[in-house]
Amino acid sequence: STQPVRIAVTGAAGQIGYSLLFRLASGELLGPDTPVALQMLEVTPALGALEGVAMELDDCAFPLLTEMVRTDDAEVAFGDADIVFFVGAMPRKAGMERADLLEANGGIFGPQGAALAKAAKPDVNALVVGNPANTNALIALGSAEGLDPRRVTAMTRLDHNRAKAQLAARLGVTVNDITKMTIWGNHSTTQYPDLVHCEVGGRSAFDAVGDEAWIADTYIPTVAKRGAAIIEARGASSAASAANAAIDHVRDWVKGTPEGDWVSMGVVSDGSYGVPEGLVSSFPCTTRDGEWEIVQGLDIDDFSRPRIDASAEELASERDTVRELGLI
Ligand code: NAI
Repeated sequence: STQPVRIAVTGAAGQIGYSLLFRLASGELLGPDTPVALQMLEVTPALGALEGVAMELDDCAFPLLTEMVRTDDAEVAFGDADIVFFVGAMPRKAGMERADLLEANGGIFGPQGAALAKAAKPDVNALVVGNPANTNALIALGSAEGLDPRRVTAMTRLDHNRAKAQLAARLGVTVNDITKMTIWGNHSTTQYPDLVHCEVGGRSAFDAVGDEAWIADTYIPTVAKRGAAIIEARGASSAASAANAAIDHVRDWVKGTPEGDWVSMGVVSDGSYGVPEGLVSSFPCTTRDGEWEIVQGLDIDDFSRPRIDASAEELASERDTVRELGLI
């Protein structure tokens, strides 16, 4: 019989976990021929709630779900993992400074990065969803001794999907007509959704929109602040769309991007496009056989340059803070 793919999910009893686990167990990530073992990590006080989620997974009688691990020990959760979704993180509380937030997350992603390197398969595909996602990935990599830094990525796919949906609505097309969308930089309000290189029916989306002021003053902020708009409307942060984006990210990483298109992924910079080497920043990426490459050779115009630089600067300052805190 086929060995199951071992998928670890941290923060498994949270709201994204509740949207993600059932889709993983039903085979939506890798298809109907791949059995799934779920390795779920929670903090000790949430193990009771996690038991309830496991009961519901049982009650689905998913044909592909061969095994469930429930644990508060990261090394157990990441044992032999092929794929890891880092969802659990420390949320920003009212009045919390950014340094406090980064320090609290350092306490999570430092040890979890070390456990990942120790316990997971060396060619693991790991995605950090928990915020601040880019810098949490950087912290995890800082303690993932011996692990190839290319194995850990950060999620900007929700922003990418939001950018496609907003553009499709404006142009009266479907998302299927849109290719080569890019989110550059940080998963934060400084992110830059790039319509210059994005194509609609083979032509630049920037030209197809034909309204620079709308792009600068409406489109970009709408995409960048969509998370806050969801919280305002729903009274809770995006969960189903975040889980969906996490599946999109890992599926495309493992299965490959189609010819003539790319996706947005937070990956370790090699200095491409002036983004300082070592930062975990979102780039246009193509993927193949579980590997990613940053798309090379794009011309960066005067509209894009300061926006890419501003987000890279924010990432560099987050990195400086975690360095000062001794987290990397
Ligand atoms: P949630 O609060 O409902 O669930 C988080 C879960 O993580 C909780 O059950 C908590 O007990 C658990 N957790 C906390 N520390 C942990 C640790 N050290 N080990 C294991 N589990 C731990 O939050 P939700 O809505 O599921 O969101 C999770 C994260 O995803 C948040 O940081 C959120 O900001 C982020 N997010 C990121 C997005 C992106 O586009 N990158 C989009 C949406 C959310």
